[in-house]
Amino acid sequence: MDKLQLTLAIIKPHAVKNPVAVSYIRNIIKQKFVIVKTKRIFLNTVEAGNFYKEHEGKFFYNRLVTFMASGCIDLHVIGHTNAIKLWRRMLGPTKVYKAQYQDPNSLRGLFGISDTRNVAHGSDSTSSAEREIKFFFPDFSFYNWYNSDEIRYR
Ligand code: TYD
Ligand code: MG
Repeated sequence: MDKLQLTLAIIKPHAVKNPVAVSYIRNIIKQKFVIVKTKRIFLNTVEAGNFYKEHEGKFFYNRLVTFMASGCIDLHVIGHTNAIKLWRRMLGPTKVYKAQYQDPNSLRGLFGISDTRNVAHGSDSTSSAEREIKFFFPDFSFYNWYNSDEIRYR
């Protein structure tokens, strides 16, 4: 049996404020993933800056950090045997013009407003998923989840 893989999905402030987007995204997550943890939080700019530290110095960094601290965000730790790739595929391309032209039914294609306000975040590797989940859930224990069969939680 394939092992469960975990990833962190973050619904960004403009999407959290849009009830149509929130219910659509929740539904699609429920259909495809095991929902391990969910929390709605508000980040200040220091916390948002720390979360996106890998992008420090890039032209969009300040805009990204200010935006992520502009309203509540929804955190979802979600599981699937191919969670990281599947969630990023459901997100679609980072840049909104690409999402709208190449993958219009992706979450970013449907609800993206700009390259920064692109609906949601998804971890890009197992190591970033672990770091990002620990960032928001410091006491999170991966062991039991990694050693469970996905099917048992469906
Ligand atoms: P990145 O990690 O490249 O994209 P992804 O979210 O698909 O992993 O960038 C992180 C976030 O930074 C991205 O979701 C939105 C913001 N960003 C911009 O605002 N402008 C840009 O040109 C890029 C590349 C990213
Ligand atoms: Mg990224």
